[in-house]
Amino acid sequence: MPSRKATSGRAGQPAVWVLHGPNLNLIGTREPELYGRATLQEIEGRMHQLARELGLSLVTFQSNSEGALIDRIQAARGAAAAILINAAAYTHTSIAIRDALRAVELPVIEVHLSNVYKREPFRHPSLIADVAVGQIVGFGADSYLLGLRAAAALLSRAPQRRPTPARR
Ligand code: DQA
Repeated sequence: MPSRKATSGRAGQPAVWVLHGPNLNLIGTREPELYGRATLQEIEGRMHQLARELGLSLVTFQSNSEGALIDRIQAARGAAAAILINAAAYTHTSIAIRDALRAVELPVIEVHLSNVYKREPFRHPSLIADVAVGQIVGFGADSYLLGLRAAAALLSRAPQRRPTPARR
């Protein structure tokens, strides 16, 4: 389980929540010609290092379950300053994840390891793309690092959102 941190994490740093969807726990060995040889743990290690350099606090979460991802997106409200998401195959199918992202009203950055637009047509539609501030695809593990840099740039110019009080 990831640690819960506030919108501003330790030392007042904005918190970016990184969500990975189904089968991304297998990268490193899963179709390496498409997704590269770095494991999720290695990518997250690089992200934590970059987050320190950028003055961000990072919370990461992976699930193969749509509901667990939605619960995590809902929990981000009032706790995260931005969401960076690779929803994997749910990108192309999940209205529920799209709705959750809209509901929390946080800046969203969509990332993909592979260039989905060079792949099968069923990977071209994203139900997240128009909810996101932007999309970064095709750079392998660097998509996540570029996404984190995009989050830092966004958060440095946007007024910080205040944590939303819990609804009764
Ligand atoms: C992916 C692309 C999706 O189409 C696929 O289902 C994934 C990974 C990517 O990062 O390239 O699982 O999101």
